[in-house]
Amino acid sequence: SHIKQVEFVKSSPRARDCPRDGRPEFAILGRSNVGKSSLINSLVRRKEFALTSKKPGKTQLINHFLVNRSWYIVDLPGYGFANAPESTRTDWASFTKGYFLNRDTLVAVLLLVDASIPPQKIDLDCANWLGRNNIGMTFVFTKCDKVKGGKGTRPDENVKHFQDLINKYYQEPPPWIMTSSATGLGRDELLLHMSQLRNY
Ligand code: GTP
Ligand code: MG
Repeated sequence: SHIKQVEFVKSSPRARDCPRDGRPEFAILGRSNVGKSSLINSLVRRKEFALTSKKPGKTQLINHFLVNRSWYIVDLPGYGFANAPESTRTDWASFTKGYFLNRDTLVAVLLLVDASIPPQKIDLDCANWLGRNNIGMTFVFTKCDKVKGGKGTRPDENVKHFQDLINKYYQEPPPWIMTSSATGLGRDELLLHMSQLRNY
């Protein structure tokens, strides 16, 4: 499950522009600013591999990263960018839905959920949409190192609350992993999980 080599392959403005070599891939999806690019940097152990930013909405294209010359990590634009105009949000929906519904080589979606804040409706909506469309997903809780103190803001409580809400909808809830790009928590567990899904 180790990452020995990684290279940026291309940025695609839409689903039909993505690589067509048939290699398996994992899509990194989540709210803008949830830590998608940071997680990729942490997985590949490079500081500035995928661009990170304090400004939400940095990643606007479908970015393919080839790992060990055999499988892809795909960085997608974040959803729920609060200041985005309605037209941009509608574009996001049709653009990413097109990708999910037509990408045969997609092994699973890693749905990133910020563990430092209480459950957000937009994340639950997204999980339900993926579930309804039979797209395999794993919940990857991010920012588990962030403890703000005060009730309801602790990562373990937020994660438990989120799972309680999800469990109502699923007979078999998706797998989940707690991570932090700051401390490396969950990194090895996530890589192992991805290798198991690839070989399944
Ligand atoms: P978009 O590309 O805009 O959708 O954002 P993104 O999901 O790629 O988020 P990004 O990785 O750029 O991170 C957003 C902010 O959260 C940055 O300031 C990161 O440093 C911070 N961040 C990301 N992961 C973690 C984490 O595990 N712990 C902490 N404490 N901060 C994090
Ligand atoms: Mg990003």
